[in-house]
Amino acid sequence: MRARAAVLTEVRKPLEIWEVDVDPPKHGEVLVRVVAAGLCHSDLHYMQGDLEAVLPAVPGHEGAGVVEAVGPGVTRFQPGDPVLFVFRAFCGHCFYCLEGRPALCDFSNPLRRTGRMFDGTTRFHRDGQDVHHILGVSCFAEYTVVPEQGLLKLPSDVPLDRAALVGCGVTTGVGAALFAAGVEVGDTVLVIGCGGVGLNVIQGAALAGARLIIGADVVAQKLEWARQFGATHTVNPREQDLLEVVRSLTQGRGVDHAFEVIGRADTIQQAYAATRKGGTTVVVGLAPMGTTIPLDPLDLLRSEKTIKGTVYGTANLPRDIPRLLDLYRAGRLKLDELISRRLRLEEINEGFEAMLAGSVARSVVVFDASSD
Ligand code: APR
Ligand code: ZN
Repeated sequence: MRARAAVLTEVRKPLEIWEVDVDPPKHGEVLVRVVAAGLCHSDLHYMQGDLEAVLPAVPGHEGAGVVEAVGPGVTRFQPGDPVLFVFRAFCGHCFYCLEGRPALCDFSNPLRRTGRMFDGTTRFHRDGQDVHHILGVSCFAEYTVVPEQGLLKLPSDVPLDRAALVGCGVTTGVGAALFAAGVEVGDTVLVIGCGGVGLNVIQGAALAGARLIIGADVVAQKLEWARQFGATHTVNPREQDLLEVVRSLTQGRGVDHAFEVIGRADTIQQAYAATRKGGTTVVVGLAPMGTTIPLDPLDLLRSEKTIKGTVYGTANLPRDIPRLLDLYRAGRLKLDELISRRLRLEEINEGFEAMLAGSVARSVVVFDASSD
């Protein structure tokens, strides 16, 4: 079949809308009609060359759709099922999956490394040329093919444009607060970077009952959203000294949990400096490949700080994603408010420009408005 797709042909170039051939799903694979796809900063990292991908390729890893067809051997899905893409397809029975940390499962490493399916071929082509997959999802396309391990079934009563956001930003952010840091009632929290993911760290910390949540961002609109998502205080580090503000709000100690949600060496260092003795610095932002940060081991030892990374919010995906959707249904998790803008596929580059300009929380490409 043919489908329109946004294709990354070269780094630091806008995406191109191509009409591609989409092959039928092979063994263990599922063909999905994409309904909605969120624009995440990680896509931009690929576009800017901060992260490596085999090109040309179809980005997009935060999305939801409906199963169109299944390949041989697929037992868990059937046509018509609403599904969420998981950008870390997991096997379900290895050491990490059994530990409840499927995002650490190595099963889908070959997909990410090669941009091809497990049999070494791609399901997208144009004029006989291979068009590659990114993160085994590639949902900036009307149709995509993924391994069945890269899908979770969705309940039928959650609109797919909202559910899509749970495929990356929401789970990554809320999970960073709940599962990576383990924020508890009464804790103090700093979130540096209040974009699509950072706002979710804030709402995760609020859900956990943190008493102080400081949102830091260089864009005024982001600080307003931060307050809407539960920040008790906000700071623009270009206008105020962030460390001074943090100290003045924490009896000079620093916060229990400081999250960096941008992916920059200097802000990771800021987060570490703002963490109290015995507290935790959580790195959520993806720094460009090759970035390093200096760490004073003596300070680490004396301060007993923890610095930790988190991928996909350290969530136990098949357990926690349904729980997040239940929280949305119960009115406890904000998804509607995250969507600043709905776009047609042809407008996708405008969406990334808006992300760079800081004027949106999340933009979502909606492929067929009638199925909302
Ligand atoms: N200090 C504070 N905030 C900053 C700074 C800075 N020096 N530089 C950028 N920001 C803010 C931006 O204004 C923006 O609001 O960081 C935010 C980043 O948000 P988005 O661009 O919406 O990115 P998001 O999708 O939230 O992803 C953030 O997490 O998963 C990773 O790959 C993702 O590295 C990315 C990070
Ligand atoms: Zn993402």
